[in-house]
Amino acid sequence: MSDGFIEVRVLDNFYQTSSFYPMPVILVTTTSESGKTNIGPYSLCFPFGIAEQHSMMLISRSTSNTAANIRRTKKAMLNFIPYNKKLLKNTVKLGFPGQSAEEKLDDSVFTLVPSSQIEINGPLPEIISEAVQVFECSWDDSNEVFYYNGTEDESHFLLRIDRIIMKKNWYTALVDGNGKFPNLPIDYGYRDSQYFWFSEHSKPYKEPLPKGKGTDLGTVRYIANRIDPDVHWSDESCEKVVAIPRVFLKKALSMIIDEAKKRGVTSITPEILDEIRDKRNKEKRLTN
Ligand SMILES: Cc1cc2nc3c(=O)[nH]c(=O)nc-3n(C[C@H](O)[C@H](O)[C@H](O)COP(=O)(O)O)c2cc1C
Repeated sequence: MSDGFIEVRVLDNFYQTSSFYPMPVILVTTTSESGKTNIGPYSLCFPFGIAEQHSMMLISRSTSNTAANIRRTKKAMLNFIPYNKKLLKNTVKLGFPGQSAEEKLDDSVFTLVPSSQIEINGPLPEIISEAVQVFECSWDDSNEVFYYNGTEDESHFLLRIDRIIMKKNWYTALVDGNGKFPNLPIDYGYRDSQYFWFSEHSKPYKEPLPKGKGTDLGTVRYIANRIDPDVHWSDESCEKVVAIPRVFLKKALSMIIDEAKKRGVTSITPEILDEIRDKRNKEKRLTN
């Protein structure tokens, strides 16, 4: 293939008509007017607010069941299904516009189960038990964070993440960082007025970051954040623990965070680290 570029006309739905754009496959469950759970397949659904205001952006045709249900109930469950041709075949079937929630349920091979989330304002949509993970969301319609002045045909929903739940084995993989990944499908979209094109990905591999000061601080911050995202670490405090060998880092940071929380501290400073170190040394001396 030649490596020269050729300009492509930017058409409507450019992500699938004018380009190759890998997307997730998400079954959005919402509650229909009749109280039944509606299943709608969506790929245009991406992280939007990533720090503190955790949210997803969902783009839907304005007349979809999903859009109507979100406007009415403000709740949406984002179910990430695994790569499985039978499930994807059914996903495409459920993506055909014009069917009611009930008609779709008759066609669906998916198993709906109640969410364990405590219902605050009315019943929550059910979730899909075949899913690897589910983002349970509420629509933020305040327009203060996001307002899109586009065509009437497309609706953009800023969905605040209330909760993320995950199958136990994937939770273990996530927390341990054991290199195992779920096989989530990639959608290249509806490309030739005939087919949706899906793919599975190969086994992810790891590429180390280049060695350097920033990298090490970043690693400390990443691990500390994973242990407790509500405890803030200043750069200077990250720097103070950077020399701890990688294998001991998680344990050491967990201990520091536990100790800080016992003291009601949510911001780690070098002074706090010194205090914790002094206390540890004292305890060690007493036990020796
Ligand atoms: C894999 C897949 C991904 C899709 N992604 C989107 C999307 O991101 N936005 C959208 O408006 N429609 C998307 N569609 C089409 C919707 O699924 C279709 O409009 C369907 O009628 C929506 O169901 P609902 O009316 O029950 O919400 C997708 C369809 C499939 C099969």
